[in-house]
Amino acid sequence: MNRTLLIIKPDAVKRNLIGNILKQILDAGFKMLGMKMVWLTREQGGKFYEIHKGKDFYDWLTNFISSGPIVVCCLKHPEGPKKLREVVGATDPKNAAQGTVRNLYGTSVGENVVHASAPDEDPEREIKFFFDEKEMFEY
Ligand code: CMP
Repeated sequence: MNRTLLIIKPDAVKRNLIGNILKQILDAGFKMLGMKMVWLTREQGGKFYEIHKGKDFYDWLTNFISSGPIVVCCLKHPEGPKKLREVVGATDPKNAAQGTVRNLYGTSVGENVVHASAPDEDPEREIKFFFDEKEMFEY
């Protein structure tokens, strides 16, 4: 599958970075199939990140992702999730390659401005967490 999920996290939304981040990603060749702004409950945040349950940062992470509105995008690219991870950079902004989204805008490993589906962690599950098929468009 060449679809993948991007989340622009509450820190980036609050800092008015939606436009800058989307421009960088779309300029890298992604097509937007679906997009919406949502504000998760803590329970929904915990469910989305359930793969991290038990880790020491899980409570912090579920609080953070539900601390404000987020923008979720279903994106398509021939190299899908792998390509998106390249454009957003490493999880911890201090390890993110020069010019990547997290290098430019991330402030810490937690407040790292975006989430991008991991190729080996079922991007389609993450897409379906937020979108019905009829909310996404092939064009
Ligand atoms: P994300 O790509 O959204 O996937 C899981 C998130 O957990 C990750 O980005 C980080 O923001 C977050 N994370 C990973 N390690 C830590 C940590 N040590 N402290 C806080 N958050 C973390």
